[in-house]
Amino acid sequence: MLNALTEQSPDKILMLMQAFREDPRPVKIDLGVGVYKNAHGQTPIMRAVKKAEKQWWEEETTKSYVNLAGDPEFSDLMIELVLGTSVARGNVAAIATPGGTGALRQAFELVQMANPEAKVFVSDPTWPNHLSILRHLGIEAVPYRYFDSATGGVNFDGMMEDLGKVSKGDIVLLHGCCHNPTGANLNLTEWQAVVDLLNQTGAVPMVDIAYQGFGDGLEADAKATRLVASSCPETLIAASCSKNFGIYRERTGIMMAVTQDSSLRSVVQGNLTHLNRQNYSFPPDHGARLVTHVLRDADLRADWLAELEDIRTGMLALRQQLADELQRLSGSNRFGFIAQHRGMFSRLGLTSAQVEKIRADHAIYMVGDSRINIAGLNDESVPLLASAMIKVGA
Ligand code: LMR
Repeated sequence: MLNALTEQSPDKILMLMQAFREDPRPVKIDLGVGVYKNAHGQTPIMRAVKKAEKQWWEEETTKSYVNLAGDPEFSDLMIELVLGTSVARGNVAAIATPGGTGALRQAFELVQMANPEAKVFVSDPTWPNHLSILRHLGIEAVPYRYFDSATGGVNFDGMMEDLGKVSKGDIVLLHGCCHNPTGANLNLTEWQAVVDLLNQTGAVPMVDIAYQGFGDGLEADAKATRLVASSCPETLIAASCSKNFGIYRERTGIMMAVTQDSSLRSVVQGNLTHLNRQNYSFPPDHGARLVTHVLRDADLRADWLAELEDIRTGMLALRQQLADELQRLSGSNRFGFIAQHRGMFSRLGLTSAQVEKIRADHAIYMVGDSRINIAGLNDESVPLLASAMIKVGA
């Protein structure tokens, strides 16, 4: 039986992570996978998370099951973190999931259960795993124009024109903030126009928010998601705690469905719980528990937020430094967009041959589409990247 299987094409981002690990050169720079790193190249456990973990180790008395939707307090706190007071809590169904990827997977399966004909409109480009999961589930993905490689910004007219082709019941997948892989984002006026279009067409928004707090700040980064959720009759949201709590391997995320009223909410909640049961039964608890501890304790929360702000402003400073250095070396402002981008990533606009040459000649690893993880840089490596870019003719 098993010999009927064919090879799967490996995930490019994860392959790059492996290639970097295996590169024997002593000086090498990893700008690949989206994991935050400090100036020393480490991915530290956040202070508040470590404290929460110690507290929880003392408090925890059993490893018995929690419940299929996860701990309700985790859901409440995460709904507040992402949605604030933009919608009534009683209209939001939610399940804890293994990371943001788990939330996306459950959201897509919910869509398939509710409307097997639904297509999912995805930005071009989008996180490759969006496409991979949709392909795996047999859901049609339809790209909409998003990135303008000439300016490094959003091709908003193209986006709106393509989204004009959605049908009622289709899904429009939007990155709530910090677009992955480009770093280019809509402003709030543009978000409002997208919301209006969704409401005219009857398409349902699905917001992937994996980097809240990495762009313009924890509250500012949630604004678009809140606008969508409070303006559209239904919104699906996949949120991740991997990045903003730095708990990647704990697999902590949440899938939320904002519904029209509380009776619909209860049916949706039952379906989400059912999906958890079918796919993995109970969601992981440990990471969710740490998030809960941090969010409900005023001191831990303040310390977490302060550290998150340091991470965010550190990335902004690296963006500026890289844009300045490229301006100095190239004598032009054509890389100014790097300072405008937000979040962990920027797409530099290099060809795959240039990306390859930078890897071969300078041991600098970035994704083949020239996406870099800004947090992989530090004061000393910014000039190395900038000069490597100029050397390959960027
Ligand atoms: C990324 O885009 O690099 C991250 O979201 C990690 C991943 O799983 O791909």
